[in-house]
Amino acid sequence: MKIVAANWKMNLSAAEAQSWLDQVKSSSADWQAVLAAGVKPAVYPPSVYLSPCAAGLPEGFLLGSQNCHHEAKGAYTGEISAGMVASIGGASTLIGHSERRQYQGEDDAICHKKLLQAFAAGLYPILCVGEKLEDRQSGKAEAIVCAQVKNALEGLSSDQVKAEKMAIAYEPVWAIGTGQEAKPEDAQAMSKAILSQLSNMGFAATPVLYGGSVNGKNAGGFAQFPEVGGALVGGASLKPEEFLVIAKAFV
Ligand code: PGA
Repeated sequence: MKIVAANWKMNLSAAEAQSWLDQVKSSSADWQAVLAAGVKPAVYPPSVYLSPCAAGLPEGFLLGSQNCHHEAKGAYTGEISAGMVASIGGASTLIGHSERRQYQGEDDAICHKKLLQAFAAGLYPILCVGEKLEDRQSGKAEAIVCAQVKNALEGLSSDQVKAEKMAIAYEPVWAIGTGQEAKPEDAQAMSKAILSQLSNMGFAATPVLYGGSVNGKNAGGFAQFPEVGGALVGGASLKPEEFLVIAKAFV
């Protein structure tokens, strides 16, 4: 099962979000064909839109939050818990997106705790990892990304780290929102490195998505490699028709 995920980030008004849902509904036959071909569409709206999305998405879509807190509940003003996401019909959450690592200072240890919360709430987490430009230029990309995977997953069980329970998104920081996507061959090589890191830790394979300036034109380049298990799409996912083109590329 491949996953093509829309990360809206902090975009779209309530009216625009509704119109996104309406457009997806009007192409529901196309989406059902995508699903039937083994590609799972997923949507990560701002959390204030989780409920309307739960009500308005066609059947088969995975709905999730862009983040969840690393504790189950408590005095954490402005935060949402994994259990809250599950309670309003969400089934997934992103964890450790590079924008949260950058602006909220989230590190691998926090990601590990968030993964535990996600599993406890029955959510399907997508752990985001990726190197900075200077790491790639200095030839350290694979080492950095594999260390992120190791640090976040160490201590989890083989019942948790497997394709049915979670996915990993490889998102090079320099490719996010820049229009500078990675070379498909580099995404493939990093997927392989992540998969062998999982295997070294005694874990089964999970889908490894690529993210970073994916659009309707370049999606096919990533989709040609079986190791690339889908895409995590930011900017281009705000246009439902382009999101559909990307999903179809992975069929
Ligand atoms: P982008 O964002 O597609 O706009 O580069 C991807 C992401 O951050 O998930």
